[in-house]
Amino acid sequence: MRKFVVVLAAGKGTRMKSRLYKVLHQVCGKTMVEHVVEAAQAIKPDKIVTVVGNGAEEVKKVLAGKSEFALQEKQLGTGDAVLTAKDQLAGEKGATLVITGDTPLFTSETFQKLFDYHENKGNAATVLTAQAPNPYGYGRIIRDDQDNVLRIVEQKDGSPEDLKVKEINTGVFCFDNQLLFEALTHVDNQNAQGEYYLTDVLEILRNEGQRIGAYRMRDFSESIGVNDRIALAQATKIMQQRINEKHMANGVTFIDPATAYIDADVKIDCDTVIEGNVVIKGKSVIGRNCLITSGSRIVDSQIGDCVTVTLSTIENSQMDEQTDIGPNSHLRPGSIIRKHAHIGNFVEVKNAEIGENSKVGHLTYVGDATLGKDINVGCGTIFANYDGVKKDHINVGDHAFIGSGATLVAPVNIADHAFVAADSTITKDVQRYDMAIARGHQVNKPDYWHKLPLSQDQNWQ
Ligand code: UD1
Ligand code: CA
Repeated sequence: MRKFVVVLAAGKGTRMKSRLYKVLHQVCGKTMVEHVVEAAQAIKPDKIVTVVGNGAEEVKKVLAGKSEFALQEKQLGTGDAVLTAKDQLAGEKGATLVITGDTPLFTSETFQKLFDYHENKGNAATVLTAQAPNPYGYGRIIRDDQDNVLRIVEQKDGSPEDLKVKEINTGVFCFDNQLLFEALTHVDNQNAQGEYYLTDVLEILRNEGQRIGAYRMRDFSESIGVNDRIALAQATKIMQQRINEKHMANGVTFIDPATAYIDADVKIDCDTVIEGNVVIKGKSVIGRNCLITSGSRIVDSQIGDCVTVTLSTIENSQMDEQTDIGPNSHLRPGSIIRKHAHIGNFVEVKNAEIGENSKVGHLTYVGDATLGKDINVGCGTIFANYDGVKKDHINVGDHAFIGSGATLVAPVNIADHAFVAADSTITKDVQRYDMAIARGHQVNKPDYWHKLPLSQDQNWQ
């Protein structure tokens, strides 16, 4: 059977109290609507149509290449929203999965089970339902004495009796495609919200003598609909646990999974240890056998095998195998730390490459620079890359030695095997094997103490 998917993502999300449109809010680093569409993609449908309206351009951007789009100009309700996809779908023969764009936790396995159930039962419509501990806000599934589904009643329309029901509409349905689009033309907006409800299609089909049904899922938490920030936090917590358990299944150790915040697309190889209070975001990739300690934050970065990151922040950067950083250091965008290099404490690196085996141990700023192999950069060195107007580059050759407290003023080249004496301010190139000293000469004043008035004081003799 051909399979189609409609994702509803045109609403504004008033209850979020946000300038950002609801489905663009992120859960573990990915917008809710991407979570939904990616789970839908995994069941390999023939077509996915996302209904956009509020924030249409932004939504289209995040889903580019993953979905077709239908534009719902006015948000007249979920039934009207599905109807806007009729040009792309109405003629098709097959089954159509409808999903709301604000339910980010559904898995493709659940969608597949719903499809299979729907097909096996020969239903015209099957709603995916769950038992909600607190069903407030969800549509309720109303059944007769024989347990047959009669209709769905929204929170705002329900009688006190209806609202006691804890079986809820998860917002996911499977329909016979042609019957769906036919029934949608009969949906009206005579209800508390004055909206065209998709949920009414069930009763319409039933009255036409079609077979309708419900597929009960066991785990309510997968069906959380995110209408406000409280639900957003709940969904994030559940997704976080799911992500961390996936990594644990792959051989990653978490000291405290409850406080390790790993984005959905992060990759981590086995035998890496993640301590508590760690944040790893975006498209970061972490190698094998690494240690990422508490207080570390890694964003869109590549970390090789056997790397130790201690209480440090790494953004859009790369650390090759057997390197280490921290505590309290910061790799800003464009930093590359080559094999066996060492970045110690209170070091900031920006748009710079630190070559193999080189050491930048303490209290140093390296910006816009290329450092070769086996270099030692002493404590408190400053790569002065900015003259107030533009940034310039500094090169340091292999085996160079930069003494503590040096200031290298860009643009400048320090050749291989060159030395820079401590506390020097370097403005001119230093050649191979040379040493540069650029600081005031030391002058010692003999017997200085005896010239002080203080020295006459008996107590100080
Ligand atoms: C909806 C269901 C409810 C179900 C719940 C599950 C209806 C009438 N109600 O309620 O039974 O329990 O989801 O989470 O279907 N949207 C549009 N265009 C519109 C209106 C909404 O695209 O005109 C989109 C929204 O962007 C959202 C989704 O449809 O992604 C659901 O809309 P929302 O207003 O959140 O519906 P609920 O009140 O949660
Ligand atoms: Ca909702």
